[in-house]
Amino acid sequence: MEQEIVALQSTAKEMLAAVEDTTQLEEFRIRFLGRKGQFGALMKGLGKVAKEDKPRLGQMANAAKKEMEKLFSEKKQALTSFTAGSVSGAGIDLTLPGRRPEKGQLHPVTQIMNEVCSIFENLGFSVAEGPDVEHDHYNFEALNIPAHHPARDMHDTFYVSDSILLRTHTSPMQARIMETREPPLRVIAPGKVYRCDSDITHTPMFHQVEGFLVDRDVSFADLKGVLTVFTRKMFKKDLALRFRPSFFPFTEPSAEVDIACVICDGKGCRVCKKTGWLEILGAGMIDPEVFKMVGYNPEKYSGFAFGLGIERIAMLKYGIDDIRLYYENDLRFLSQF
Ligand code: DAH
Repeated sequence: MEQEIVALQSTAKEMLAAVEDTTQLEEFRIRFLGRKGQFGALMKGLGKVAKEDKPRLGQMANAAKKEMEKLFSEKKQALTSFTAGSVSGAGIDLTLPGRRPEKGQLHPVTQIMNEVCSIFENLGFSVAEGPDVEHDHYNFEALNIPAHHPARDMHDTFYVSDSILLRTHTSPMQARIMETREPPLRVIAPGKVYRCDSDITHTPMFHQVEGFLVDRDVSFADLKGVLTVFTRKMFKKDLALRFRPSFFPFTEPSAEVDIACVICDGKGCRVCKKTGWLEILGAGMIDPEVFKMVGYNPEKYSGFAFGLGIERIAMLKYGIDDIRLYYENDLRFLSQF
């Protein structure tokens, strides 16, 4: 009997030590300490021992059962409580406030892109998107820039193969759209463009929005009107506009368009390099050669086109002088917009 008590106690201790959760703990309780458990059976067995051994064995069995009950309740406590004391050893301070998840927002370039598109959509332009990986044909040939044309040099092109490249501007969308649709047309084409160039005003990837309008009797005055409305809405000021004669192979005449400096209102400052003007886009009347290549009759139709850089507009609007900041993924910078 004595050995039985010792053996039962040691099995029970072993089993209890192996218990890992409250379900197992309950199984343990039923098996050993419950009404029909093994300690109960042991007590019943005491009835059969010799009279003179009874008090000693009884005490021993009782002590064994008590000890198991104590160990059981300690184990229960350990499995069910999660107090500061029980985890402080792990270096966890439960009194610290929780960390708030960062609230996301659109990238400043996306915000400006959306704003530009919605201004033109309100002017009746529809939005079209085209491929970043483009044929030489659409990027250059169809825009009146044949092989060996000096204008190709300015584009710092990333070539994928002899005839495939990463588009260097969004102008290829002029040819793509005109090829498949008849005038009247009023389209903007936003998207990414690529040039092998990197310094404080250039990144190898940047964003442009191309716009073009083709109809009968479209004039340079229409171009001026649309761009004036656009810049005033964009910069929320009645800004003066200046059209400087320029050259693009796909427009004739061509112009570079400046706005009065948004920082100093044209008085002259660091941002406008004391000129009072900021260049914001290229534009012009679509060259008849481009119309011919897409099968439009230049005698019947005329149109204007323009192309603007989103990062540049964002830099002017927010007075930022290093374009690379947009792409360094520094949330301290990005979350200001
Ligand atoms: N594609 C030109 C560039 O990236 C910008 C441009 C100039 C677009 C004049 C036009 C335009 O549509 O008429 O430099």
